[in-house]
Parts: sequence; structure tokens; C-alpha cells
Amino acid sequence: MQTVKLHDKTFDIFINEQQIQESISKIAQQINIDYKDKNPLFLGVLNGSFLFAADLFRQIEGTAEISFIKLASYHGTSTTGKINQLIGLNEDIDGRHVIIIEDIVDTGITLQKIMNDLQQKKPASIAVATLLFKPESYQKSYPVQYIAMKVANDFLVGYGLDYNGQGRNLKAIYKIKE
Ligand code: IMP
Ligand code: MG
Repeated sequence: MQTVKLHDKTFDIFINEQQIQESISKIAQQINIDYKDKNPLFLGVLNGSFLFAADLFRQIEGTAEISFIKLASYHGTSTTGKINQLIGLNEDIDGRHVIIIEDIVDTGITLQKIMNDLQQKKPASIAVATLLFKPESYQKSYPVQYIAMKVANDFLVGYGLDYNGQGRNLKAIYKIKE
């Protein structure tokens, strides 16, 4: 599919399935080196990261755990600034090596909220693995260690990313048509 229509907007193909999987393999290999024998706890941020989390975690070798957390903060095509509570964390992360799995880091506001909440629970370390990173939009200084793909400031859908709830099931990533 070259073009898709979701609600009132049209999107063009931008990153194909193969490019997505290759970029995920690269960061998985690096994580496998960096976290060897550390039993990392991956925390996928719902809803957007669920496909990326599955494909990344499938490629993690050795002992590792995964769980999911949620923070609703985004509506429509621009960040609202409205940040909600972190929910779903049942694991004790004290002394654990945590890797947050995000679909996309845009301004970094969502990530900062998650980091602040998790830091208070005294993990041994926290790193971030994101499928997509928008460097021109990022406002925070916290380093994002594992970036599968850097993208420009366009609104994207597919492979977990949505536009008002739709588009998450697209196998490729699509860019909004201006
Ligand atoms: P941030 O707080 O500005 O970094 O935004 C992070 C969240 O906004 C992501 O986890 C996504 O849910 C959403 N988001 C940011 N950019 C896009 C996009 O291009 N498409 C779909 N969702 C996005
Ligand atoms: Mg998200």
C-alpha cells in the first residue's frame, strides 16, 4: 500500500517493513552486548510500542523480562502537554536494569514523566530504546541510548503509531501528506 486514508488525513509510505526490521535488529544486537548477564527488565510503553516491543524482545538473547506501562498524553496530531499518571507497573524495579521501550520520542515530555516516576523506585539503571526519534523536536537533555530510526518533524502512523486510534495495524510507517 502506497497511500492510506485515516479519518480526514492521507498518509504516504515512508519506511517499509524490511527497513523497520533491520533497524530493530541493529539495536537488539547492541542491547545484547550491553546487557549480557544483567537480566534487564524491559518496560514497553502502551499503546504505541506494542509491536516494536514484541519484535525487539524476540531478538533479545539470554535472561530478560518484559512488562508494560501506560501513560496517556497524546491526542490528534500535536502534543497537548496534558500528562497523566503512570499505570501498570507491578514489578519491583529496585536494583534492576530497566530499558524503557517507546514507539517514538518527540518532545521528550512523555519520556521525562516516565523517567521521573521510575527513578524514584531506585533502579540500578534506566535506558531508553525507541523505534523513532525526532531530534528537531526533542527538548530534553536526557540521552536516548537506543534509537532504531531518526526522523524529521512529520506526523507518522503505522507499526503501532496511531492517528486518533487508527493506523496501528499498518505494517509499514506512513507520513502525513501536507
Ligand atoms: P512526546 O511527549 O512529545 O515525546 O510525545 C511522545 C508520544 O506522542 C509518543 O509516545 C506518541 O504516542 C506520540 N507521538 C509523537 N509523535 C507522533 C507521531 O508522529 N505519530 C503518532 N504519535 C506520535
Ligand atoms: Mg506513546
